[in-house]
Amino acid sequence: METALLEKLFLTASTQSATRTFIPSLIYGCAWKKDRTADLVHKALNAGFGGIDVAAQPRHYREDLAGEGIRRAIAGGRVKRENLFVQTKYTPISGQDPSNLPYDPKTSIPTQVHASITSSLKNLRTTEDLSGVNDSYIDCLVLHSPLPTFAETKAAWLACEEFVPNRIRNLGISNTTLPILRELWEVAHIKPAVVQNRFHRETSWEGPLRKFCRDKGIVFQSFWTLSANPSLITARPTEFLSKAAGVSREVAFYCLVLGLKGTVILDGTQNHMQEDLEGLEKVKEWVKANNYEWENQMKLFRDLIGERAPEESAGKGLQ
Ligand SMILES: NC(=O)c1ccc[n+]([C@@H]2O[C@H](COP(=O)([O-])OP(=O)(O)OC[C@H]3O[C@@H](n4cnc5c(N)ncnc54)[C@H](OP(=O)(O)O)[C@@H]3O)[C@@H](O)[C@H]2O)c1
Repeated sequence: METALLEKLFLTASTQSATRTFIPSLIYGCAWKKDRTADLVHKALNAGFGGIDVAAQPRHYREDLAGEGIRRAIAGGRVKRENLFVQTKYTPISGQDPSNLPYDPKTSIPTQVHASITSSLKNLRTTEDLSGVNDSYIDCLVLHSPLPTFAETKAAWLACEEFVPNRIRNLGISNTTLPILRELWEVAHIKPAVVQNRFHRETSWEGPLRKFCRDKGIVFQSFWTLSANPSLITARPTEFLSKAAGVSREVAFYCLVLGLKGTVILDGTQNHMQEDLEGLEKVKEWVKANNYEWENQMKLFRDLIGERAPEESAGKGLQ
């Protein structure tokens, strides 16, 4: 079995089709960048980030400026849309600023979802003028959180499904519990391809949920990875890997999380872009030459978070 850190991940759970969406290990997170969003997205894509995570949630994200950053990077010639992973979200009313919304909250949930996605497709188009809207697509659309009832969550999900595969390639859900994810998996025609959740002690680092994800071929997207885990960043395996591979403890920690199999990291760095991207490559090279020691450190890391080694049979889609 190839070590998880060296595997390329593809999303297949949603489409089950021959066209697989590549998902990068580090996805650039656009939250809280405000009016610096376009510059930072442009810089991140030029630095080598292969994708972005944003949301149709003006309270925390400037999706319009994320689109501008993408267009600038493409116009610069170093980035092609087809090589980028572009992810955004439909945010239910509970997560929105009621005075600044991408939909009318008085309309039905399916109508809200349609309006939100239509607005996202416009924001994330690749041409400056509006001529590109008809060609615009989203690699992954994430339901930002379950809605107050499962019936509402299902209604939102089914509305998202209508856009797959032409305008949206894959669907996902964020801030979910395992019971809701299981229920969604049962009723969805287009299965969730990603789950985006916090990675922290309070949820036992989502061990059982991540196992479900691995079994179903769902990719787990981790956030709060650095901010919620100061004690793991100074723990023995992180320190060891940091010194052995010659990278910062933060990068070493990202790599241990990536080593859990079927995981990617949402990285919203403003000041460590190059360090994170180059550090990941450095650790991969170290792992190729020191696989036995890497597996030892992964075992220590799994023990720290109370996790057993991933099953020999990899989940489908995680290749
Ligand atoms: N679905 C949701 O509800 C939800 C919620 C929160 C976040 N998210 C997503 O997740 C993304 C990431 O958010 P996050 O909360 O995990 O945190 P984050 O924005 O990635 O911030 C992590 C912190 O880590 C620092 N950092 C990164 N690389 C570092 C390194 N090599 N050395 C030292 N420090 C380093 C950054 O500092 P510098 O900026 O100084 O580099 C930043 O202060 C967001 O942008 C968003 O896309 C989703």
